[in-house]
Parts: sequence; structure tokens; C-alpha cells
Amino acid sequence: MISTINLEEQIRHICDNYKDAPIGGWIIGNGPIPADILFVGEAPGKTEVELKKPFVGMAGKTFEKYLNTIGLSRDAIRITNTCFFRPIKLTIGKTGRTTVSNRPPKTSEVNLFKKILDEEVNLVNPKVIVTLGNIPLRRFTDYKSIGECHGQLIFNKYINRSIFPMYHPSALTYNQSGDFLKMYEDDWQKLKDVLIKL
Ligand code: URA
Repeated sequence: MISTINLEEQIRHICDNYKDAPIGGWIIGNGPIPADILFVGEAPGKTEVELKKPFVGMAGKTFEKYLNTIGLSRDAIRITNTCFFRPIKLTIGKTGRTTVSNRPPKTSEVNLFKKILDEEVNLVNPKVIVTLGNIPLRRFTDYKSIGECHGQLIFNKYINRSIFPMYHPSALTYNQSGDFLKMYEDDWQKLKDVLIKL
């Protein structure tokens, strides 16, 4: 029987042996098992690795605020990532100083964790998987872009589960238009409606 300890060991093994690019630490999913809702993000950032928990940085604050607007708290949901390590980019500046920044995970990096994420989904056994952003969207559906399908329930017949795609909460930082905010807030209300019917 697979357990979260087992998942953690598998993640540790992959991260310890990953030599293709530098990484900035790793984390595992967080929240109850089983759970009716599983949120899946892209990959952890600096704060997540420091605090060893997904979605606790800036995007996490936005996420939690909207989660609360539909009457849910973090302790009722499971949240995890598509890539369990922090993908980083090292840039050497003119003065020779190296700066570390986040980058999206490559497809090969997402694939490293395919089996582990499938195992986590089976352990959590959610009624719905909510994907946050394009990386988990492509991992769980045939859609390529969140703009095509956000805010609607999609059935994945291969894993026999319902997927509800949402924009990544950090999209609000990049797109500050009133129309985008309204659409984002509407998607949370649509998720609330979907959950009532589950
Ligand atoms: N963004 C993600 O996609 N995942 C995290 O854990 C934090 C921010």
C-alpha cells in the first residue's frame, strides 16, 4: 500500500539524483488524504521550499483568499504540484554575482514525477482535480492553454476523473485588468457550483 512517506521517499530519490539542471530544493503535497478536492499547481518557489509547503508565497496568499471566498479552508483540501522540485535559472550578472530565479518546469521534468503524481491522485481519491495554470492543465488534459477551457468541468477518461481547469493565481499579478479579475472570480464561483453538485 502506497503512503505519503513512500511518495516522499520517491520524490527525494528523484531530486537527489537529478543532474540535468540545478534545482532549488523540493517539497511534497499538503493536506488531508483522502480529500474531495485536489488542487495541482506547477512547481514550488523559494518560499514554498523554505517553509516546506505548497502555495505559501505570494501566489499562495491569493489562492487562499479566493479559496476562503467559496467557504473552504486549506485544511479541507489537498494541494500539490506537477513538478515537486523548484526549477531554477542561474544568471551571472556583469559584476559576477549569480542570481537565482524561478523558471517553468520542462516537459521532461514534469514526466519525472508522472508516476508519483498519479499515485498521489489515487491516494487522495478526489471527486475533482483543480489544475492551476498551464503546466498541470497539459498534464491532466489534452488542452494546451488555460484560456481555451478555464472554468468548466472536463472528464479525463484515462484516469476516470473530473478536471476543473483554473488560471494560476499568479496570473492576477501579471494581468491586472478588471475584466480578468471578474473572470477569475467567476471561475471560483463556478467551482463552488461544481462542488455543490458533486
Ligand atoms: N506556485 C505553484 O505552482 N506551486 C507552488 O507550490 C507555489 C506557487
